[in-house]
Amino acid sequence: MSLHSFGQEAKTALEESREIVADLMGAKPNEVIFTSSATESNNLALKGVAFANRKKGNHIIISSIEHSCIMESAKWLEKQGFEITRLNVDKYGLVDPEDVKKAIKKETILVSIIHANNEIGTIEPIEEIGKICKEKGVYFHTDAAQTFGKIPINVNKMNIDLMTVSAHKMYGPKGVAALFVREGVKIEPILHGGGHEMGLRSSTVNVAGIVGFAEACKICKKEMEKESKRLTKLRDKLIKGVLEKISGSHLNGHPQKRLPNNANFWFEGVEGESIVIQLDLLGIAASTGSACSSEKLEPSHVLLAIGLKPEQAHGSLRLSLGRWTKERDIDYVLKVLPKVIDKLRKISPIK
Ligand SMILES: Cc1ncc(COP(=O)(O)O)c(C=O)c1O
Repeated sequence: MSLHSFGQEAKTALEESREIVADLMGAKPNEVIFTSSATESNNLALKGVAFANRKKGNHIIISSIEHSCIMESAKWLEKQGFEITRLNVDKYGLVDPEDVKKAIKKETILVSIIHANNEIGTIEPIEEIGKICKEKGVYFHTDAAQTFGKIPINVNKMNIDLMTVSAHKMYGPKGVAALFVREGVKIEPILHGGGHEMGLRSSTVNVAGIVGFAEACKICKKEMEKESKRLTKLRDKLIKGVLEKISGSHLNGHPQKRLPNNANFWFEGVEGESIVIQLDLLGIAASTGSACSSEKLEPSHVLLAIGLKPEQAHGSLRLSLGRWTKERDIDYVLKVLPKVIDKLRKISPIK
């Protein structure tokens, strides 16, 4: 922000980066606010809109499969006197746009629905939900941390008013993200200070991180179409192979309406943690549906929301694909995973 030439050089890099990030989502550069994380963007969207529009109403709608930073922000807002509706999802994790329509009332100020869920990969009908919100005159926010750079997004076509995106989910650096805020949306900052980022996010900007974010956007723009086709093919081979080779295995999430890089299963009679440990020994990094909280092993709220019982959620495994995943990696997983499950079932106390 300094007037000297060194400062101005950084400012030019910042504004060029803003144009590149805005371009990938079909927004105007002045609608992109850089933040430090998707968590911060989601907090700003929910709390910022809630407090700026308090006079209009106090009702906010979210889904029951949002990321914890939306779930927890909503819980906190409830304590401040806001009313939160958490919409149920079907067995695939899909929100029904009709449920959104029915839940909107006079006091509703914001609907926030995740674009694609980070655990089960299900892609929500964002365009339809956005259309409903537009017709009803209610702001619509989507957490697109998992989709930006992976599948096409256009904030105008999809009727989005606010959108969270993150650099490190698309091969950019950690510690940088953004919130799209449509021109005219009433929102309050949650960080007060020097008035950076059009007054919405005070604090010295992370220029290096933002330039890296823009570079990641450029690469994704160029590669997205080809890469998503390649990953979808590999993902489907993985899903088909696992379901065919392992009895008592089930897919979590939607078979088609899902992120190209996400596969999530639950296996009867085994625990996710044991699978993850066994796979790690074989050089495969995977994750399970339980988040190890400080004291107890909690089953994922997302898996419970799609109707899994706690023991089924504990038997879940998420395998993510990426830019460096090759067909031979899928073949390797398909070779070793059936043996791992078989071995664990033989010694499993739950079986
Ligand atoms: C959908 C979604 N939203 C928000 C976040 C939070 O991102 P961060 O931890 O980088 O703030 C994540 C991270 O896993 C995510 O997947």
